[in-house]
Amino acid sequence: MKIACFGAGQIGSAFIRGVLKSQIVRPENLLVKGGKSGTAEALQAELGFRLVRNVADLTDCDVVCIATIPSVIPSILKELKGNLGQNTIVLSLATSPSIAVLQSALGSHSLVARAIPNTPIQVLAGMTGVSYGKNCQTTHKETVQALLGSLGQALEVPEEKLGIFGTVAGCGPAFVDVFIEALADASVLNGLSRKEAYKIVLQMIQGAATLAQESQTHPAVLKDQVCSPGGSTIRGVAALEENGFRNAVIQAITKANIH
Ligand SMILES: NC(=O)c1ccc[n+]([C@@H]2O[C@H](COP(=O)([O-])OP(=O)(O)OC[C@H]3O[C@@H](n4cnc5c(N)ncnc54)[C@H](OP(=O)(O)O)[C@@H]3O)[C@@H](O)[C@H]2O)c1
Repeated sequence: MKIACFGAGQIGSAFIRGVLKSQIVRPENLLVKGGKSGTAEALQAELGFRLVRNVADLTDCDVVCIATIPSVIPSILKELKGNLGQNTIVLSLATSPSIAVLQSALGSHSLVARAIPNTPIQVLAGMTGVSYGKNCQTTHKETVQALLGSLGQALEVPEEKLGIFGTVAGCGPAFVDVFIEALADASVLNGLSRKEAYKIVLQMIQGAATLAQESQTHPAVLKDQVCSPGGSTIRGVAALEENGFRNAVIQAITKANIH
């Protein structure tokens, strides 16, 4: 697969690291274009992909990704128009503009998709939502699915659901990081070293998620299984409820989802 990526910031660099790590793209088949502050050049020195010297070099790309802030996208679309192959898919990773706007800027026959990835894509544990423009056929979807699927899981959703998908999958890691830190603080308060605390907490969270995923068991059932009558776990659960844990999480997602 040959791909290009415009933008090598937070999400662009996570994407670039992920596709190289998964080996779905070889460094010589990955072309990157950055902005003015040299982030793409710095990453190129570390990872060895190619820099875009001329947009005309992109005509034989399978996918051209756009991972910049939305305000620079109109100028990128102008550069791309007329320089894309018949089967090149433009895949925007930005929160806006919409597929309709991308398509009208690139032409009515253009192949356009939007995806909202999260930063765990760089360690191939991502969760990415993807929506396709009307010109994308099964083969185009298969190409994008192979690319995004190599970074973890990728799920096709209608475009109107990309916002909440991105909030849960994209903001969620930061909320989990706060939870991890709080668990580690509590562990240290109760006698563990910081190093021991993080080792235990990270493996515990990964294990709990893997168990829920692989057993396909409802989280309430998994919780009930470890709450013995009058035991320590149910006392901890009661303390979480007393302090509004569920409501805090629901409010965090709801507030983050205001666009
Ligand atoms: N961060 C996340 O977790 C996340 C998750 C999902 C989606 N997104 C979306 O991804 C997009 C990028 O977010 P980010 O956090 O990665 O932003 P960022 O860290 O600010 O990175 C933006 C990148 O765009 C480059 N750039 C600017 N102008 C350019 C141009 N004309 N051509 C090519 N590259 C150009 C910048 O290069 P220079 O630094 O050299 O100027 C920089 O590498 C946003 O739309 C965001 O909503 C982010």
